[in-house]
Amino acid sequence: MGIAGIIGGSGLTRLENLEILYQRIIRTPFGEASGPLTFGRLEGHEVVFLARHGYGHTIPPHRVNYRANIWALHHVGVSHVVAVAAVGGIGARMPSGSLCAPDQLIDYTHGRPSTFFEGGEEPVVHIDFTDPYCPNIRSRLLQAAGLQGLGMVDGGTYAATQGPRLETAAEVRRIERDGGDVVGMTGAPEAVLAREIGMCYAPLALVVNPAAGKSCEPITMQAINDVMHEGMERVRQVLASTVPLLGDCPPCACGAAVGPDVLRALRSGQELAWKRRAPAKQEADLAGSGSS
Ligand code: HPA
Repeated sequence: MGIAGIIGGSGLTRLENLEILYQRIIRTPFGEASGPLTFGRLEGHEVVFLARHGYGHTIPPHRVNYRANIWALHHVGVSHVVAVAAVGGIGARMPSGSLCAPDQLIDYTHGRPSTFFEGGEEPVVHIDFTDPYCPNIRSRLLQAAGLQGLGMVDGGTYAATQGPRLETAAEVRRIERDGGDVVGMTGAPEAVLAREIGMCYAPLALVVNPAAGKSCEPITMQAINDVMHEGMERVRQVLASTVPLLGDCPPCACGAAVGPDVLRALRSGQELAWKRRAPAKQEADLAGSGSS
């Protein structure tokens, strides 16, 4: 395997238990990632960390540059990504505070650049996305939670909404009828892009509130933050236990969603597109940053 990557979401802009070695800004054909990649060691294992919403939590879900983030992680050799997400809980098995390793995804987002394959010089590609998450990472998340004596719901459907507002009660009822178990704003297109580029990817969700209409209480940031504060401690424990387990992941199908020829074409096509851009545009993209 390559390197383990962790994408931190709301409530996880840094990992206290990560021994930080250095940070690196990666230039990508899609512009800037949410921030420099942080290279470090977790339990002695090399890890690359990226805060999805920026290290100061300033990028809302609909403005995250998901393509740049996934491209940057892939570019530095990350092969397995655990994507941490704070979510709303829908069903009875997802009370606030639950940890969950979802196994399915419904995408309700719109208007987000959600593919690396834009046509033109890139091939037209339709990846098999029947099972959106890497089974090896999922099983290790569950194993790690067990090792830490922590509960984790095995499976569930992650419903990705557009945000940044929370849902209406009717929207949550619809999501529930559709089979959604938890609702968050960042699960798509992040998972799609990881699969397109051949990376293993799975979310680690922390339920921080009952989804809209699922409680008599209004949803407040204060209540969310209280749950998040405690829950992210458990998330850190699970991550520390998961990373060492990723090393022995057997081969899986994630990397085969697009064949090696298409991947090569994608990579070289993007590199070419990048190089063809006017230098002024490249500079604008990199404004204020170093380069890889
Ligand atoms: N809905 C969408 N995203 C969320 C929620 C929610 O209720 N809670 C945390 N992220």
